[in-house]
Amino acid sequence: MRYLIVGAAGHAQEVAWSLREQTATRGEQADLLFFDDHVARAQLPSGLGEIAGGLDAIAAHARPDATQLVLGIGLPRVKATIVGRLSALGIPWATVIHPGAIIGPNVAIGDGSYVAAGAILTVNVQIGRFATINLHCQVAHDGVLEDLVTLHPDTHLSGNVTVGEGSELGTGTLVIPGVRIGHWAVLGAGCVAVRSLDGGSVYVGVPAAPLRPSPRARAARRSSRCRKEIRVTRHAR
Ligand SMILES: CC(C)(COP(=O)(O)OP(=O)(O)OC[C@H]1O[C@@H](n2cnc3c(N)ncnc32)[C@H](O)[C@@H]1OP(=O)(O)O)[C@@H](O)C(=O)NCCC(=O)NCCS
Repeated sequence: MRYLIVGAAGHAQEVAWSLREQTATRGEQADLLFFDDHVARAQLPSGLGEIAGGLDAIAAHARPDATQLVLGIGLPRVKATIVGRLSALGIPWATVIHPGAIIGPNVAIGDGSYVAAGAILTVNVQIGRFATINLHCQVAHDGVLEDLVTLHPDTHLSGNVTVGEGSELGTGTLVIPGVRIGHWAVLGAGCVAVRSLDGGSVYVGVPAAPLRPSPRARAARRSSRCRKEIRVTRHAR
């Protein structure tokens, strides 16, 4: 099988290494090629393969029925853009699971997702498409990660936690049982989520609190400032 890896930076090379370990356990010879719009063509120092060009070069390197794409990107918004951009090619996405990850019973992992070495997904866990579960993350029983979620290294989710589409949990995030995190939230490194959090905002600290207001809150604040200015202007006349 030929694997076309999207991205060539450090994270992409970690994904590619995991894929090589995974394919070795099933006795498969993996042919790896990297594509990145921001890195010049070259052999990679990790020895995992070469950068064959930018993303526009991917189609020319695909072999009918013997090619899979591999998502070597970790940031949710960039993942969404890349997946959209490459969807017209119709090439299936590989699901990469390092053999050193521990996956329990009744765990479903969507296409294009990545589970790194040392991660543990226990029982009855649902992982959507294009999720990133990085080194030593834990997802306990009945966890749900929707599409495009990224858990940075050492994130630990207790039981019955749901993480909404496109959310990004920084390194070392802890989430207590039953918490629900909305769509496209960002939790800073070392955050502890002790109650459910709305989507679309950035949270930091222990317990997690908003770093800055969501766009809706900013808009509401702007319009309230605007109303005050109108009142002041009328008053001054
Ligand atoms: C939370 C985060 C997204 C904010 O990024 P940002 O918008 O660029 O924010 P800034 O760096 O400008 O910091 C803004 C403020 O938040 C504080 N802050 C940033 N990250 C914080 C964190 N994780 N915990 C507590 N406070 C944090 C900063 O000290 C700063 O405070 P100040 O305004 O009092 O000086 C980012 O700092 C973070 O933690 N990302 C996680 C990244 C990660 O884990 N990557 C793993 C790669 S493998």
